[in-house]
Amino acid sequence: MNNKTLTLIKPDDWHLHVRSGAALKSVIGMTAAQMGRAIIMPNLNPPVTNAAQANAYREEILSALPKDSTFTPLMVLYLTDNTTPKDIQEAIDNNVVAAKLYPAGATTNSDSGVTNIAKLYPTLENMQKLGMPLLVHGEVTRNEVDIFDREAVFIDEVLNQVVSDFPELKIVFEHITTKNAVDFVCESSNNIAATITPQHLLNNRNDMLVGGIKPHTYCLPVLKRAEHQTALIDAAISGNAKFFLGTDSAPHAKHDKESACGCAGVFSASHAIELYAQAFDKAGAMDKLEGFASKFGADFYHLPRNTQTITLKKQDWAVPASYPFLDGNIVPFMTTKILGWKLAHTQHGKE
Ligand code: NCD
Ligand code: ZN
Repeated sequence: MNNKTLTLIKPDDWHLHVRSGAALKSVIGMTAAQMGRAIIMPNLNPPVTNAAQANAYREEILSALPKDSTFTPLMVLYLTDNTTPKDIQEAIDNNVVAAKLYPAGATTNSDSGVTNIAKLYPTLENMQKLGMPLLVHGEVTRNEVDIFDREAVFIDEVLNQVVSDFPELKIVFEHITTKNAVDFVCESSNNIAATITPQHLLNNRNDMLVGGIKPHTYCLPVLKRAEHQTALIDAAISGNAKFFLGTDSAPHAKHDKESACGCAGVFSASHAIELYAQAFDKAGAMDKLEGFASKFGADFYHLPRNTQTITLKKQDWAVPASYPFLDGNIVPFMTTKILGWKLAHTQHGKE
């Protein structure tokens, strides 16, 4: 590294939504230009609940990639009340790398999610036995729980119990947003890790709400107060291998976000690594970016680190106002703002 460029092992995105059909075709090339691999979220409509659906979705993604791409999608099973231990075995036999717990109703396309985790215990037992990681959307959904408290309450009511009942189960606490979650992960065993999004590092709830509602910063779990943002930045730059990159880039058309009932989801696939570089540079921690972006996630999943590299250049550039998406547009996170690092090139190493 010098002051002007930074070369990193090619990063991976350990939490990504790419949708399907025409939406998939609009966005997948962007991630493939930045990331070696990505954990593909299974919250399609209908969701990816068995190995056959995961295989079909993987094939659809591979055929939507640019011709010379070496990008690898990592498939995930969507857990429902009816997922069986046998479904887990079949998924593993078909190279599905993880299973995702959405509490029913927590977020976009989570209606088929789990209503009571106790029903899933035989399935979690098998995941623990077979070493398949559980990916958790960590929010309770009860109406009386304030939206800003839902992650902290989930730790107290659900996660503590699961961790104590399944001490060997590998768990990724996805897109964490609070100091409570950072503390929980730090205090847990090495089986517990977490992903952190660029929006939760670069923004807090003031950025979303002061001076007018900014729908393109609205995602779930929702942005929290500044002290939580600070805890997330400290965790990301700490060099602690339990914290790694997961964008939660979640494409929704501009008109669906700029609406009386706007969808949850921030789109960052187009410039994900530049957004993380912005956050790390601001914290004076560019030397910690490679571990977070390119090493710790692969190590947690027991996958080899990528052999290709990317180079970032210190250069001011403006995030575009929009990109084409379906028959309209999509607005990227930090739209029209100036970022200080730009992806220069991808080295296409031999496979
Ligand atoms: C995600 C989506 O749109 O699929 N939205 C979001 O706000 N993060 C779903 C999710 O990961 O919660
Ligand atoms: Zn997500």
